[in-house]
Amino acid sequence: MFLGGGRITSALIAGLRLAGYETPIVVHDRHLRKLQQLKRQYSVEIEPNLSRAVGQASLLILAVRPDSLDELLKQMGRINRPVTAVSLAAGVPLAKLQTRLGPPVRWARAMPSPACLRGTGLTAVAFERALSPAARREVKKFFAKVGSVLELPESQFDAFTVTYSPSHGYHTLATLASVAEKLGLQRKAALTAAAHALADGILCWRETRTSLRDLLDEAATPGGIAATVMSSIDAAGYRRILERSLRRGLMRARKNAKN
Ligand SMILES: NC(=O)c1ccc[n+]([C@@H]2O[C@H](COP(=O)([O-])OP(=O)(O)OC[C@H]3O[C@@H](n4cnc5c(N)ncnc54)[C@H](OP(=O)(O)O)[C@@H]3O)[C@@H](O)[C@H]2O)c1
Repeated sequence: MFLGGGRITSALIAGLRLAGYETPIVVHDRHLRKLQQLKRQYSVEIEPNLSRAVGQASLLILAVRPDSLDELLKQMGRINRPVTAVSLAAGVPLAKLQTRLGPPVRWARAMPSPACLRGTGLTAVAFERALSPAARREVKKFFAKVGSVLELPESQFDAFTVTYSPSHGYHTLATLASVAEKLGLQRKAALTAAAHALADGILCWRETRTSLRDLLDEAATPGGIAATVMSSIDAAGYRRILERSLRRGLMRARKNAKN
């Protein structure tokens, strides 16, 4: 049962459908239009009534934005039977979720990405201590349908969140391609070159399991063009900028925890 039928819910359902997931999928959202769209697109069951939606679920996936979560939890009211609730809300800690909705509801957090729609995503999960091994397995099995699953201590969840978004890939691709265009490459060739530069390198690292140091040595002849470009990027403070930006992301996540 998904509470919230927005972007990440759509991506997860697309991935589940691709994987041939057969358990009925029910979605609740406050916008009937979104529910009808999901029903048309993925043949999910829809439940516009929140109490009925919550009443029929044993696994609840809460997929609303962090600033909508409190209101949703209030509307849900008390639940008097054992339910595993999985919050996708970035930055919102288990302790806060447990305070808002306590036992017999048990909590997990999950951080998937839209890449799960192709079945090639990665989802980090963290569990409250009291969640049973069987319930943990159920949550992991669910997200494993749409990609790999990585269990992390909750203390690492925000660092994972700011590192993992595919927006890093899209943003780097867009920036590299636009600079290449500025240097005279046509738009299409610029995007193709940039996409290969990023994807080929990463696939090679993943598939060969060669160390990054060796791959960098192999791709950048000392004193050559690639080595000049890389050292110029480093000298301009790339690492410092990235660290500062990720720290800003962490601060944003902490704001979600407080609100
Ligand atoms: N998008 C991603 O790639 C991604 C990845 C990992 C985790 N997440 C997390 O997943 C959550 C959802 O993100 P999203 O991008 O899918 O958001 P979204 O597209 O805004 O979808 C959330 C949906 O839930 C609805 N909603 C909010 N409060 C509700 C309530 N009380 N009752 C019923 N429906 C309600 C929203 O309606 P309104 O528009 O009216 O509020 C909206 O249709 C966030 O907490 C985010 O941190 C997202």
